[in-house]
Amino acid sequence: MSELATVHTPSIYSNIEKQTKKVGFNMSSDRYVGSLLKTLVASKPKGNFLEIGTGTGLALAWIVDGMDAGSKVVSIDNDRSLTNIAAEAFTENSQVQLVCADGEQWIKQYKGEKLDLIFADSWPGKYCVIEQTLELLKVGAFYIIDDMLSQPGWPDGHQEKAQALMEYLEDRADLHLTKMSWSTGIVIATKI
Ligand SMILES: C[S@@+](CC[C@H](N)C(=O)[O-])C[C@H]1O[C@@H](n2cnc3c(N)ncnc32)[C@H](O)[C@@H]1O
Repeated sequence: MSELATVHTPSIYSNIEKQTKKVGFNMSSDRYVGSLLKTLVASKPKGNFLEIGTGTGLALAWIVDGMDAGSKVVSIDNDRSLTNIAAEAFTENSQVQLVCADGEQWIKQYKGEKLDLIFADSWPGKYCVIEQTLELLKVGAFYIIDDMLSQPGWPDGHQEKAQALMEYLEDRADLHLTKMSWSTGIVIATKI
């Protein structure tokens, strides 16, 4: 198959990518995940979306590209040097709310309407406060994580953590799960 996910990047993408390279940030999700996010987001008109772990905003660019005019997204990161790059990129877009805060605290305190899709791309929402995070999903909403295929550079103990997370998600009766050995290892869950 040709490199389908590498074409038609969001118009804002190459600018953010340049800034990302400049600051040497190398934890961005790849274009496969990005295009998947865009596709899923587009299935939720007037959607309410959350990304945990903004980074410089590359995955966010895909999310925004999939949104209709009635949708909105909140993206959280605790590193202002990164969120500043995203903030510059999305400054004109009132559908995007960037929050520079600890994700764990934000999730615990969130009292807003339930969400249509959560992309949990940080420690919070994935390896901690997972229960509270899944609680924020509407029925029919998506929960997405990447980086689930083991990597040579993983720190000691991370393989076990990833395995435990997978088992936890599989054991939940309120999720339909698909595990994909594609990109960096994706899990898509639908809340039932
Ligand atoms: C994998 S990167 C996110 C990449 C981004 N989603 C993308 O694809 O471009 C994970 C991010 O989580 C952020 N982070 C780490 N711990 C955090 C915490 N406790 N609260 C909020 N953000 C955190 C890091 O600063 C980092 O930018």
